[in-house]
Amino acid sequence: MVEKSASLASEAAAPAGSAGTGLGGTHFERGRQLAQRAHQIIPGGAHTYAKGDDQFPEQAPPFIVRGKGCHAWDLDGNEFIEYNMGLRAVTLGHAYEPVIRAAAEALPFGTNFTRPAPIEVECAERFLELIPTAQMVKYCKDGSTAVDAAVRLARAHTGRDKIAICGDHPFFSTSDWFIGTTGMPAGIPRWIRDATVRFRYNDLASVEAMFDAHPDQIACVILEAARTVEPAPGFLEGLKALCHRRGAVLVFDEMITGFRWHRSGAQHIYGVTPDLSAFGKAIANGFGVSAVAGTRELMELGGLKTSRERVFLLSTTHGAETHALAAAIATMKVYRDEDVTGHLHRQGRRLRDGISKIVAELKLEGYFDCIGRDCCLLFGTNDADRKPSQPMRTLFMQETIRRGVIAPALVVSYSHTDRDIDLTIEIVGEALAVYRKALEEGVGKYLQGRPVKPVFRPFA
Ligand SMILES: Cc1ncc(COP(=O)(O)O)c(C=O)c1O
Repeated sequence: MVEKSASLASEAAAPAGSAGTGLGGTHFERGRQLAQRAHQIIPGGAHTYAKGDDQFPEQAPPFIVRGKGCHAWDLDGNEFIEYNMGLRAVTLGHAYEPVIRAAAEALPFGTNFTRPAPIEVECAERFLELIPTAQMVKYCKDGSTAVDAAVRLARAHTGRDKIAICGDHPFFSTSDWFIGTTGMPAGIPRWIRDATVRFRYNDLASVEAMFDAHPDQIACVILEAARTVEPAPGFLEGLKALCHRRGAVLVFDEMITGFRWHRSGAQHIYGVTPDLSAFGKAIANGFGVSAVAGTRELMELGGLKTSRERVFLLSTTHGAETHALAAAIATMKVYRDEDVTGHLHRQGRRLRDGISKIVAELKLEGYFDCIGRDCCLLFGTNDADRKPSQPMRTLFMQETIRRGVIAPALVVSYSHTDRDIDLTIEIVGEALAVYRKALEEGVGKYLQGRPVKPVFRPFA
């Protein structure tokens, strides 16, 4: 198995060679062959839906075998500037030297023992230095597990069952309490689906109404402190006050905002400390580490010093793998010593400004938009009637991939240099010229193959 993947990686080292930049490509034969094998043995052909074939144009690399910085190489030797790396987990860059060195140095000492390793304490201390708004922290592997842990603590603390989620935010957990609310709820009992209720972002009246509709039943209120829209003045403060007045726990999902908005989290930027928060993704630059953090009062319910009924708070076999924690410590050191999030904001701003200029030149306002905070840019694609359009999204991705940018979103990393951003702007400009023609002449004339589809849909 090892031999096989090593040989795939070296095959991919062959240079690409499309026009101009040497980036991009249109030949994906090896990738397609492997994709056929994958679909025979892995449902959906990928272990993560967001990476699946239905999320990308037909003219896209089916596999990526190697990454360095913000560049990635596919199985056919094509090179791309990559965005949204590792579903936004890889914030420093692929194979970031201090991080992989730390993980490699930990490996020869063993990864998992019958008692905790000292690195568990060091990693907790590092986290609490960076996130001083939390008093305790516990690690696990996936963001979903961390959010689930916050939910369990809140339910135990309040003695209530219902979970309130922000209906404007797309994802919180792979667990039944959240997936049951999506367009793909098969296999999840109705009573679990009914336990989750929604409120609107920046709309305290909707939160108040939700509490009124479910009196003394809501255990926690979960949201991202911000996503594509910034919090209205007073919203987060008001939300916290309302939660506490109604006896609910406030949980911030910092999976994306953590280590991207600011090294101390969105809770630092907006000056509102939640009772609990969940971190993951960027915390270890792509290694599997996530965390639930919060007040001592709540977190200690999972400890040995509580007089209240104990909560089974995160206890997983692989939760404290030493090399992953070493990667987390190294990543957090970079965040402590260097202005990573400043760079993410600067490069995102450079990208946004460059693209906005092209959008104006091509008169694409209302048809193609950069959305969200500079450090976490998404793009919106509309058709000729200015309605959200998956075919137009697919076309944009097809045309950028062809020229050397793979970007399901335009989320930058610490490794995106000025040159990477400027090349991307050039490539996006060429792609948007095709986009403009497709608006006028019909997308069918330019799109090769079927459009992408949303992950959460009931039928294939
Ligand atoms: C905001 C948010 N919360 C939670 C999660 C779940 O994290 P994981 O995929 O690590 O379980 C995600 C994943 O994309 C996310 O974006």
